[in-house]
Amino acid sequence: MDAAYKKINGNYTQDVDADNQETRTWRRGSMYLEEETNKKSEVITCIFSLKEEVGALAKALRLFEEKGINLMHIESRPSRISKEQYEFFISVDPAYSQALDEVIDCLRTQISGHVHELSRNKQKDTVPWFPNDIQDLDRFANQILSYGSELESDHPGFTDPVYRARRKEFADIAFNYRHGHPIPQVEYTEEERATWGTVFKELKTLYPTHACREHNRVFPLLEKYCGYRQDNIPQLEDVSRFLQSCSGFRLRPVAGLLSSRDFLAGLAFRVFHSTQYIRHGSKPTYTPEPDICHELLGHVPLFADPGFAQFSQEIGLASLGAPDEYIEKLATVYWFTVEFGLCKQGSETRAFGAGLLSSFGELQYCLTDKPKLLLFDPEKTSLQKYPITEFQPIYFVAESFDDAKEKVRKFAGTIPRPFSVRYNPYTQSVEVLDNTQQLRNLADSINSEMGKLCEAMRKLE
Ligand SMILES: [Fe+2]
Repeated sequence: MDAAYKKINGNYTQDVDADNQETRTWRRGSMYLEEETNKKSEVITCIFSLKEEVGALAKALRLFEEKGINLMHIESRPSRISKEQYEFFISVDPAYSQALDEVIDCLRTQISGHVHELSRNKQKDTVPWFPNDIQDLDRFANQILSYGSELESDHPGFTDPVYRARRKEFADIAFNYRHGHPIPQVEYTEEERATWGTVFKELKTLYPTHACREHNRVFPLLEKYCGYRQDNIPQLEDVSRFLQSCSGFRLRPVAGLLSSRDFLAGLAFRVFHSTQYIRHGSKPTYTPEPDICHELLGHVPLFADPGFAQFSQEIGLASLGAPDEYIEKLATVYWFTVEFGLCKQGSETRAFGAGLLSSFGELQYCLTDKPKLLLFDPEKTSLQKYPITEFQPIYFVAESFDDAKEKVRKFAGTIPRPFSVRYNPYTQSVEVLDNTQQLRNLADSINSEMGKLCEAMRKLE
């Protein structure tokens, strides 16, 4: 009997350690189980073991058949309890809950002896799926909430068939993109370059007096290395390579609107989902949605800063496997920082949010005495309501990126999830710290880093 081993994208569930019967948790991604198609785990899953004897599985399956239970999934592996046994993982529609009870009784008394339910009506305890490896982000392309070519009726390009066709071209590029591929180069039209030029020229005049120092430090580098010019729209691939060399952040094109959960998950891997199209040429200073001006002028300079990159990744890591209500809170924290954040710099307040740095009007407005300014505090910030179609009445001011990062980290500690996560940059994967081996690996890694720190300090002295 061959065990059906599969290394498949991460999911999270619970298992029982056969030796000591302690409940422990493991990532399904690093084991052998295939993920559930139902992301909310609205299925009953259990594992039962069978002795290696002819017809044992057939007997067990007959029990399910007799009760009319349709198995949604079944996989096998050698048992952890005994080398002579095999274990079977099954998933069943919750509609069969009662019938399954009877089957489990029979399995326990007649065939197996060891049956463990992994999930049943425990939605509150289940952990939403999240990507484990950076390649897992590829599946977000199929999970977009709306395609980038679907425009609202009040969109400036709604009645322009040429613009709509162009938007579809961009959406298709993103939809077909896969991690590791270069982002396709785009030949922007003269009209598109003119639109970019108008936005670029206006904003550049404000940056020295309104943008934070990190933005102003990186901007000239983007001009030097990435083709940031009034008459040129930089290519995402060039910018992504630049970001990787500065902070490990990278861009990937996105075909449409992502859910907050998926979008934030990208940040955990230092991946920023970026649009590649540009706003409609009839209104160069207005866009109802993010476009390449917003991404390249607002977001990119900050993602090149290591402190800001770490802060952004912290929000992403906090989101992995978080309950829905916390995703909303983290998305709000993201809104008031990465999109509309202000920070103290010496005696001044400056903008670091991309929504501000890409809007000529709001960048000026945010530093007047019209809006209300509050100190950034994730507990309170995460509950703040905000408008999306007008200038913000309230902004939150961070003491520094380091301070904001520490606050987000503490806030993440309040999120109810039964594990901690850590990003491993060598494997570009998220490690779930939920067992002693993982903690030992982390301790070894910290030990090694501490050794380097002590040695460097000794040499400096
Ligand atoms: Fe944005």
